[in-house]
Amino acid sequence: MNRDDPSYKGQRGYNRFLLAIYDPWVLGFMARAVWKSPIPPVVERYRRLMGRRHLDVGPGTGYFLERSAPSEETEITLLDPNPNVLRKASRRLAARKPITVEADVMKPLPVEGPFDSAALSYVLHCLRGPQPNKSVAIRHIADVLTADGVLFGGTVLGLEERHTPQARAVLKAFNRAGDFDNLGDTAEGLRRILEESFEKVEVDVVGSTANFTATRPRSTYPDPSG
Ligand SMILES: C[S@@+](CC[C@H](N)C(=O)[O-])C[C@H]1O[C@@H](n2cnc3c(N)ncnc32)[C@H](O)[C@@H]1O
Repeated sequence: MNRDDPSYKGQRGYNRFLLAIYDPWVLGFMARAVWKSPIPPVVERYRRLMGRRHLDVGPGTGYFLERSAPSEETEITLLDPNPNVLRKASRRLAARKPITVEADVMKPLPVEGPFDSAALSYVLHCLRGPQPNKSVAIRHIADVLTADGVLFGGTVLGLEERHTPQARAVLKAFNRAGDFDNLGDTAEGLRRILEESFEKVEVDVVGSTANFTATRPRSTYPDPSG
């Protein structure tokens, strides 16, 4: 990805070193000790919501896809602008023969839809704010889902929400470094951007994070019957 691209900073940190320590450090330690948001319910959500054709946007190491052990028939597409991520996740899931797409969720998605499900797990806090800008990513995913498709995921919230002092300090540091851009992100704002593109939205705050499920994507085109 070009360094001038607004999405560059949110994905540049995922080099081989970070990806090697990601599972124990980010999922094992940070999620539990800093964000106070346990990982097992996320695996459970993947298990429950993944459809036959699944799109994983920003898959990281592919941890959730592997742990949720989708059925043999599940066809997995991994989309990420960072080639290190695609390499790591596709190797881990090699037995599932995933399709990889090097792309930015902030631009129309160059994928062969429609998908029955999509995950956007801990990606929104990496996208460039303010939060209403991030609705573009949600729209792009809604556009490639089936009429009864589901989008699910989670994100770290900004400073207006409740956090431990440690979480606040980490949030500020990650925003200063540019890895996160979420200081103004709220659970209510998340609901609003999801509702722009989906008819049914559920948002649940857990510790410093919000988990979400969105179904019934709205059509991009106005209903001709008025
Ligand atoms: C915090 S990791 C989350 C990884 C994984 N989904 C998880 O829940 O553990 C963020 C992921 O989002 C990806 N990402 C960042 N900016 C992106 C963008 N503009 N479009 C798509 N993916 C992006 C990163 O490369 C990385 O794979």
